[in-house]
Amino acid sequence: MKKEIYEIQEELYKNKISNNDIGWSNQLHLDFKMGILDSLYSNQKFKNVLVLGCGDGQVLYQLAMNNKETQFVGVDISEVATDWAKKRCEGMNNVKVFRADIIDWVNEGLYDLVIDDYVLHCMVDNYRDIFINKVKGWLASSGDFCSFTIVKDKDAIKDTYQIIKDTKIRQFLTIEELNDWFVQKNFNVIKSEFHKIEGQPIQLSILSKSQSDEKSIIP
Ligand SMILES: C[S@@+](CC[C@H](N)C(=O)[O-])C[C@H]1O[C@@H](n2cnc3c(N)ncnc32)[C@H](O)[C@@H]1O
Repeated sequence: MKKEIYEIQEELYKNKISNNDIGWSNQLHLDFKMGILDSLYSNQKFKNVLVLGCGDGQVLYQLAMNNKETQFVGVDISEVATDWAKKRCEGMNNVKVFRADIIDWVNEGLYDLVIDDYVLHCMVDNYRDIFINKVKGWLASSGDFCSFTIVKDKDAIKDTYQIIKDTKIRQFLTIEELNDWFVQKNFNVIKSEFHKIEGQPIQLSILSKSQSDEKSIIP
């Protein structure tokens, strides 16, 4: 990740702390994501779950509290956020939080569920492809990739990029572009659902690795 993007993220997190916010996201966003995850997976017992862009650990913490038998790993580039997440999850033996750039993070784990916790839209230009290939490597063959991402919506976001201090910090695709891209990257789109949370256009995508992709990694 570019140094400027990182510094902007850190500044945003420091502002959240000084405003006494509960984290990056507010309760509405947390309830939205937890509601979806509960409705999809409450009957499933996962061995391990990876939360990408876990930030201050709100989703990570809730999931780990509700699923004590499952091992959770959260990763985020922000030091401020991961310190916050570690503190939130202190004493829980089913959670590990790492500070790393997903783009060059080396992690040999295989996960039953990989969650994009509002981080895909932070992957700008060629980082998107690197990101999705990393996800593919971490996802178990029968696992789900559950993506929560902001999309480009005619009413809400007119621009493709969000730019702060001349730095592109986010990139938004339309729903069609997003779905086409997932298919192009060899994922099966199991569910694709549009939501608007506080006026923000959020796309929920549930994806699995396609069989052709599986075959290509079997010797
Ligand atoms: C929109 S925030 C969402 C945070 C949290 N998941 C939430 O919903 O409250 C995006 C998060 O992705 C993290 N992030 C952005 N680029 C990253 C990268 N390359 N590697 C790891 N984390 C990244 C940011 O630090 C930030 O915490």
